[in-house]
Order: sequence, then structure tokens, then C-alpha cells
Amino acid sequence: MTYETILVEQRGRVTLVTLNRPKALNALNAQVLADLNAAMAAFDADAGQGCAVVTGSEKAFAAGADIKEMQAMGFADMYGTNHFAGWEVFARTRKPVIAAVAGYALGGGCELAMMCDFILAADSAKFGQPEIKLAVTPGMGGSQRLAHAVGKAKAMEMCLTGRMMDAEEAERAGLVARIVPAADLLDDAMKTAATIAGMAPLAVLANKEMVNAAFEMPLAQGVQFERRLFNGIFGSEDQKEGMAAFVEKRAGDWKGR
Ligand code: HXC
Repeated sequence: MTYETILVEQRGRVTLVTLNRPKALNALNAQVLADLNAAMAAFDADAGQGCAVVTGSEKAFAAGADIKEMQAMGFADMYGTNHFAGWEVFARTRKPVIAAVAGYALGGGCELAMMCDFILAADSAKFGQPEIKLAVTPGMGGSQRLAHAVGKAKAMEMCLTGRMMDAEEAERAGLVARIVPAADLLDDAMKTAATIAGMAPLAVLANKEMVNAAFEMPLAQGVQFERRLFNGIFGSEDQKEGMAAFVEKRAGDWKGR
């Protein structure tokens, strides 16, 4: 399948998605959203694929929602058509998605990275929510996900000043999982994704779902949610295989059921 604004490639059980609007620093327009959602639907539906990596270029992961596309839009265009609702569809991808970020991840670019399950940052990465400089606000979840990731003080400062955060600060603040030298970013992200894609598929889904529950539920309810998934996974063939493989000192052979 080919797309207009992204490149999609399968390497083993890993789907690599590269944002590909270099002249606009990968600005996210309606076509990018449509392409990403089509690619993610295909990824989720393909039992041969276990983890995805979303990346951009050396200069920019994505420099935001497409300002030129939004410039002439009014309230009815945004609210009436629920213009950005498709991003929630991306965020509901069931299998893990890693953001491999080099260069600018600004506005919607930062929001897209935060919609992924975790961020691996090149040492060149720069994160920001500069919407306020355009007299608007984040609109794809940035104010919420940034506050969850880095806490109120830093999220508020970032949103109100529009300043950028470099990779080191982002790692200290908990926005990114790890920093990698820029030259190694894609290799590292693909290896990390291959590790995840090599795990038992049902356990991967369950682990992702329960960590996400921590951001949606009060603690006691989240612990119950975890316990129910944990109990449920003991009904899978792969649980028997995983524990037998440990005892027999061999690698597990997963069936995905
Ligand atoms: C459309 C963009 C763009 C964007 C860059 N470009 N960002 N086009 N939307 N978000 C285009 C430029 O217009 C330019 O096109 C080309 O990409 C190269 O950008 P330059 O500005 O020339 O590059 P540089 O000087 O290196 O500066 C890089 C930059 C700057 C610091 C990242 O481009 C920048 O500040 N971009 C906007 C960042 C931003 O405000 N993002 C938030 C967007 S609002 P031409 O044709 O001139 O060569 C947003 C809202 C989300 O994301 C919430 C609602 C969904």
C-alpha cells in the first residue's frame, strides 16, 4: 500500500512509518491524518505485525498541525466538522507505537509523539507547544498529555510561553523514555520495536492497556483493571508456553492465543 504523505515499510514484525512532507517539515494536514489512520488500521489488523515506529526526518519529527491549512478556517470548520477528531482514532491504536523523534516536535508534532506509547528522542530533539504564539492552543490533546507527562508546572510554562524543551530536559521531565545519539535513533527504535514485537501478542496488548489505564482511572479501579487483565491472560495458551519455556530454559513459541 502506498500513501501520499507517509512511507510505510514492514521489517519483520515491525511496521516503520515515516512522515514524508519534507518541504513543510512534516506539518500534519488532513491527508497525513488520513494516511496515518489507514496505516495504523492495517498495522492493527495484521497478525504478522507486533509493533510500529513512527518517525520523521533528521530536521523535524513534525513542526505542528499545518498552519497553512488551518489559517482560513473558522469555528464552524473546526467545531462543526470536528476537524481533529481523527487524531483520537490514531491514539486508539491497539498495538504499541513508538515515536522516534529527531529535530522539531512542535505543536501537533509534539502531540502526535505523545499519542504514541513512548518517545525515543535523538539528542537533537526539541519539543514544544508553541500554539500560543499563533494566538491558539493545543488541540490534539497536548495540554492534557503534556501535563500528565511532565506535571503542571512545566506543562503550564511550556504552553504559556511556547518555549522549546531540548532532549535532555525532556528526559529529566519524563516526557521521553530515553535519549539516543541522532545517528543511532532509527536503529535503536527498530531494535526496541523488534523486542516488543517478539513478545507474546496478547501480553503486549494487555500490558499496553493497563499502563494506559493508569492515566484514565483512580488507583483502586486501575489496580482492579490490571488484576482482571492479569487473571484473563492465564486463560491463554501463550501463558502456559511462556512459563513452560522459562522452566525448560528455552525461548517461547507464541501462538497469539
Ligand atoms: C505549515 C510549516 C509548519 C507548519 C513549518 N512549515 N512549520 N507549514 N505548518 N506547522 C513550513 C514553513 O512555512 C516553510 O515553508 C517550511 O516549512 C520550512 O520552515 P522554516 O520556517 O523555513 O524553517 P526554519 O526556519 O528552520 O524553522 C523551523 C521551525 C519553524 C522553528 C520549526 O518552521 C516553525 O516555527 N514552525 C511552526 C511551528 C509551530 O508553530 N507549530 C505549531 C503549529 S499549530 P515555505 O513554503 O516557507 O518554505 C499546531 C496546533 C495543534 O500544531 C493543535 C490543533 C490541532
